[in-house]
Amino acid sequence: TLAALSPQDLHGKKIMITLGPTREYFDKARFWSNPSSGIMGASLAVAAALRGAEVTAITGPADIALPSMIQRVPVVTARDMFEAAQDIFPTQDIGCFTAAVADFRPPACSTGKFKKSGETLSLTFEPNPDILATLSNAKKSWQQTIGFAAEAQDLEKNAALKLAKKNLDLLVANPIDEAGAGFASCTNRVLVMDRHGRQEAWPQLPKTEIAWRIWDWISMNTP
Ligand code: CTP
Ligand code: CA
Repeated sequence: TLAALSPQDLHGKKIMITLGPTREYFDKARFWSNPSSGIMGASLAVAAALRGAEVTAITGPADIALPSMIQRVPVVTARDMFEAAQDIFPTQDIGCFTAAVADFRPPACSTGKFKKSGETLSLTFEPNPDILATLSNAKKSWQQTIGFAAEAQDLEKNAALKLAKKNLDLLVANPIDEAGAGFASCTNRVLVMDRHGRQEAWPQLPKTEIAWRIWDWISMNTP
């Protein structure tokens, strides 16, 4: 098998990965979301499984196929994803949070479907829970967390702030408005930083290769 050709440096590790977008419904027919493809998370899941890990993927509604060696927990909303992650993370060695979680959700529509009226429609959005910040700030000493950051400006400064604020072991940051990087692209250009102050800027690479290198980094720093 392919796994027989891969280093087994993640053997015995349990790894949870969140991936894809979340959907927050306005009414029965419409939702607030983002174009996340789930490619980064799926690449990390496959790479970790090949390297011997037991992988659970909590997947938002992305059109992505995962091999059967990866356990899949499908969810729709940010709150569903939060609930699933809270259930699963306590037994995991590593949590990897690639999902593009909606930061806000619209209120539930009481009539089933909005009718057009020619008037302005205003909705008040509520904040969603921050899954990564909540779990990472409560993690045990033997657990590690990997976060992602999509930034429109001040990439390095905002990434360093997220690494500290969310108590992460590793943060992978990318600019959102660059060709060949970020959402729904097969490639990305990332800045990687860890809790020990190590930092590397990688050139534009396929997400599959970024995934492999992220596990290299983690396995070099895990006893
Ligand atoms: N994240 C999460 N739950 C949320 C929002 C974000 O788990 N409700 C995770 C993402 O999966 C990612 C990291 O937090 O690993 C950073 O997401 P990002 O959107 O870049 O940062 P935010 O903290 O949401 O801040 P902002 O969007 O305001 O920059
Ligand atoms: Ca966000």
